[in-house]
Amino acid sequence: MLKSFLSSRLAEILDLNPNHDYVEYPRDVSHGDYASPIALRLGKEQGRNPHDVAVEIAKKLEATDLDGFAKLEIAGPGFINFRLNQKGLLKELNGFLAAPRHYRLPTPPKNNKIICEYSDPNIAKPLGIHHLLATVIGQSLANIYTYLGYEVIKINHIGDWGTQFGKLIYAIKQWGDRSQIDKNPIDELLKLYVKFHEEATNKPEIEDLGRTEFKHLEDGDTENRALWKWIVEISMTDVQKTYDLLGGITFDHVLGESFYEKKMAPLIEQGLKEGIFEAGEGGAIIANFPGTNYPTTIIKRSDGATVYITRDIATVQYRVDTWHPAKIVYVVDVAQKLHFEQVFHIAKRLGLYTPTEVELEHVIFGRMSFADKKMSTRKGNILLLDDVLLEAIDRAQAVVEDKNPDLPADEKRAVAEMVGVGGVKYAILSQNRMTNIIFSWDKVINLQGNSAAYLQYTYARARSIINEFGTTPLTLTGLAEDLTENEKEVLRLIPKFPEAVVLAAKESKPHFISEYLFDLAQAFNGFYNNDPILKAPKDKKDLRIAICDVATQIIKQGLSLLATIDAPERM
Ligand code: ARG
Repeated sequence: MLKSFLSSRLAEILDLNPNHDYVEYPRDVSHGDYASPIALRLGKEQGRNPHDVAVEIAKKLEATDLDGFAKLEIAGPGFINFRLNQKGLLKELNGFLAAPRHYRLPTPPKNNKIICEYSDPNIAKPLGIHHLLATVIGQSLANIYTYLGYEVIKINHIGDWGTQFGKLIYAIKQWGDRSQIDKNPIDELLKLYVKFHEEATNKPEIEDLGRTEFKHLEDGDTENRALWKWIVEISMTDVQKTYDLLGGITFDHVLGESFYEKKMAPLIEQGLKEGIFEAGEGGAIIANFPGTNYPTTIIKRSDGATVYITRDIATVQYRVDTWHPAKIVYVVDVAQKLHFEQVFHIAKRLGLYTPTEVELEHVIFGRMSFADKKMSTRKGNILLLDDVLLEAIDRAQAVVEDKNPDLPADEKRAVAEMVGVGGVKYAILSQNRMTNIIFSWDKVINLQGNSAAYLQYTYARARSIINEFGTTPLTLTGLAEDLTENEKEVLRLIPKFPEAVVLAAKESKPHFISEYLFDLAQAFNGFYNNDPILKAPKDKKDLRIAICDVATQIIKQGLSLLATIDAPERM
């Protein structure tokens, strides 16, 4: 990675902390490929003119072996600008061709285990929009960490426990029709749940009956256990259908909240003994958060039932003790920000993890709304996700019919799935996750803009050239001719791919990869549209095929990091 190479070279000659980053990307690409503002800082510290400091540093740098870079330039008040020269660009190209997957972390961390939790649907309820976002962002982060050489443990923490199951069990017993539910589980169960709440407005006493059913469930009542197990199974079969439609969504462990049922009591006891928890009203147990402005929270209800936060506290303990991770990432809706702050706070006070050894991170994301009003259905936040995905595939199919009517029908369908589903995933992943997303079909399935379809189309065009050429040359030597501007534009992006992946991992933001891929595709298309490839003279032809090869490999790899988007060979 050139960026970190330059940074550590600077740290070395200036005797600075090697763990910091002294190199950035110049805002204006005409200023070169990399830039360092270090002279500005040192100049200020030493009370010297930063420009003079920059000149001095550049001289020192050039005395070390900076092979592959043009003469350093000092710009503005004292920026040192680095620009790859022709030799450097070709070295990057050859390096990639020789070992396209050499982008592992230069110094792997001592503990490279990361737990990544995402998706987390609630049993017996349809997936919410936030579940889709969590699933897609979480799968991307898992893919990115894996690519960088981390050992990733992917967990789906399903919502399969809590008083709502008592209510549901009560409703099934009262009004449920099992064969109806078997046919259409999520819809029927949701109806029953809604009916329960409607009835409860007139007959508040059934709230208590629902809670009692949950208590029975917790206490091991056979009938309730069997009902609960059945609800979980049929719901998960339904959720799995959506995962299958999305494609490439995988977990190492599906551990519901119910898994922590028996693990809470000892923690509650410990918390009480250590004064972290205390007695609340009517025999409830509560937690306060001295030194913070978090509100008091219930840990155990007065009827003895456990609650959501208690299960999360037990989950921290289980994960740390079972896997000893360096980091646990929770990709969960921002509505749960306070919840996780409280979980992490209590877990720390209980000594369930050591903050210097384990980092707990709640990865939040913005809201998604729909330009097309008919898409957000029923109760606002609930999305008929399968319908959205199927519509995306249909729309993509129309594009494929138009672009390539001669493809065999089954290939058309396969491409439409890649483009349609990929389009939905990319719409989520191409934005900074902190900003809200407005989902509109013109952006999602679009061959021109920053979309999956654009990258997939670029990929397919480059692949068809490589296929026409036949074999790909592996190493290029003795290039007589000068590189064209279009060639340079593509080549200078090669070293930036791993840099984008590292940044995406560091900030838990996959959009750094999509931004990069869009830049690469634009540079590639500039090259493809202007520099003849198959008709070029022999030397140039090899080089240009090699450029096609690198671009396709990076686009394919990059898309696969983005929640496992596929790229078609033809479209
Ligand atoms: N199932 C919950 C929901 O849909 C999200 C769970 C988040 N993860 C956690 N460890 N609490 O609201």
